[in-house]
Amino acid sequence: MNAPAPIVPLASDAIPAGPVVEPSHVDAYVELERATVTYGRAPNLVHALAETSLRIAKGDFVALVGPSGCGKSTILKMVGGILRASTGFVYVAGREVGAEPVRIGMAFQNPTMLPWLSIRDNVMMPLKIVPPFRGEYRAKRKTEFRDRVEALLAQVGLAGFGDKHPWQLSGGMLQRASLCRALVHEPQLLLLDEPFGALDQFTREELWAIMQQLWITRRPTVLLVTHDLREAGYLANRICVMSARPGRIVDDRVFEAPRPRTLAMTYEPDFVAMTQRLRELIVESRGDVPATV
Ligand SMILES: Nc1ncnc2c1ncn2[C@@H]1O[C@H](COP(=O)(O)OP(=O)(O)O)[C@@H](O)[C@H]1O
Ligand SMILES: [Mg+2]
Repeated sequence: MNAPAPIVPLASDAIPAGPVVEPSHVDAYVELERATVTYGRAPNLVHALAETSLRIAKGDFVALVGPSGCGKSTILKMVGGILRASTGFVYVAGREVGAEPVRIGMAFQNPTMLPWLSIRDNVMMPLKIVPPFRGEYRAKRKTEFRDRVEALLAQVGLAGFGDKHPWQLSGGMLQRASLCRALVHEPQLLLLDEPFGALDQFTREELWAIMQQLWITRRPTVLLVTHDLREAGYLANRICVMSARPGRIVDDRVFEAPRPRTLAMTYEPDFVAMTQRLRELIVESRGDVPATV
């Protein structure tokens, strides 16, 4: 049905990526159909996103990479129902976004916890707000919901930190807590906008492992925006590369590697070749003189 995004041919055969994705062949849980976004009003229009079609299967883990300002966050905002497409359509679970509530979890670069609440209460917040949980919140907040939060905190290595306040935790710990908050209401869809971008490399890599484990055990559909190509390759099953503004998807391919993936895998020659190729595509799409890549 949709015209597939133009695909930039790959120069190297060494890339351990699977077939280029034909958007129309994916049974979609998330779908962008010729969506565009223009911000502002004349004469200050910003054409952020050129016509973009993208289909994401239920339970898949898709990474979106591209130069700064190419519209990655714009796509997440549309899928999350925060922003309307200027033209075209966005569907989640087969319905136009906003037509029917879909449980979505979100995490951003800045974890933005409420400082006056404990970590436990911050993580529990979606259960207070989101139906059907909010109707049961008063009855279950000290029993079942509390147990659920404790189990999640333990899964990300924060057992025993529920009583602390945000200012008592490091950046990496706060980001772990924010992943718990994004998952506590069992979202079908997880939207992650550079969630590990502000962390040091060691903490970031620890969180990749945690994120992978959370995905393996819960299997939400995930759309991850990142500028870290190793991160995209470690976490995602499919990597979409966007061009500079107005953004569009210029490369879209499946990345098949067994799970659980390891950090060692990211130093193997095939993996390094893949990330270098992605880097080249991004540099080309920026129109820059290809720097040493
Ligand atoms: N609310 C807005 N008003 C005007 N321009 C915007 C707004 N939000 C984003 N933009 C512009 O749209 C483009 C895409 O933004 P964004 O999706 O945030 O990029 P990315 O996440 O890929 O870095 C950028 O050039 C940005 O400056
Ligand atoms: Mg962004």
